[in-house]
Amino acid sequence: MGRAKLTLETDRELLAFIFARFIDGEFTGLKEGYALNRAPNLEAADFLARQIRDEIRHANMYRTLYEYTAATKKIPPSPRLLTLIMAPVTGRLWLEHCFLDKALGERWVLCLMETLIETVDDRKIVNHLKAIAKDERTHIAFGEEQTRAGIGQSAFRRFYLWGLYLRVDFALALAFRLTRSLIQKRYSTAAAALLTDFFSDARARIRREIAELVGVPARNSLWQLFICQLIFLIRLPCVGWLRNPRKTF
Ligand SMILES: [Fe+2]
Ligand SMILES: [Fe+2]
Repeated sequence: MGRAKLTLETDRELLAFIFARFIDGEFTGLKEGYALNRAPNLEAADFLARQIRDEIRHANMYRTLYEYTAATKKIPPSPRLLTLIMAPVTGRLWLEHCFLDKALGERWVLCLMETLIETVDDRKIVNHLKAIAKDERTHIAFGEEQTRAGIGQSAFRRFYLWGLYLRVDFALALAFRLTRSLIQKRYSTAAAALLTDFFSDARARIRREIAELVGVPARNSLWQLFICQLIFLIRLPCVGWLRNPRKTF
């Protein structure tokens, strides 16, 4: 039996909510502007400049989808709890940026988009999502390539990036736990199933892919999560291993 589909008739509210949050995500993508300062060479700077154009185009496409689903132009702000849980996930060093924002953050978004492409019964929405997903795959591939190069042979960087991943994974698990009953009560069965699948299947898949990218076993470790988050937040001076790469313009 095929999986139940989301339709505009039954899931308009949820789809509008998702597209509004996707617009927030695309604005986060504009932080690529800051990352330009850290680009190690002209090729990387060129990629970021093209990516900024992509993200602006995506924000406009999501705005079209939001207006199409919500039938209003007024985009509601992100709920405070969601903002609080998800921030800060933007890396400040080149390696952190390529890993957190591109290889990990954009991967999460792409997984949600792919789930929607499979389950939404609306040609306009699916076509828009497919066009955006194509660009997002190139952003993730660039993030992966730079992450691999940035890790090099460093065991410390592997440890550190996996610790940062655990923090993001923890935040998403918490977001799901806090919203699960609300999702089940408020949305259609198809929508609740989509979100549950996303937070379980996609989460497991991302875990495997990130462990492979970083080159570590996919293991949970609370102390690693805390230590790496501490290093991230206070930028411990002992961590000379986390310098930006030398520029070769
Ligand atoms: Fe995007
Ligand atoms: Fe992107």
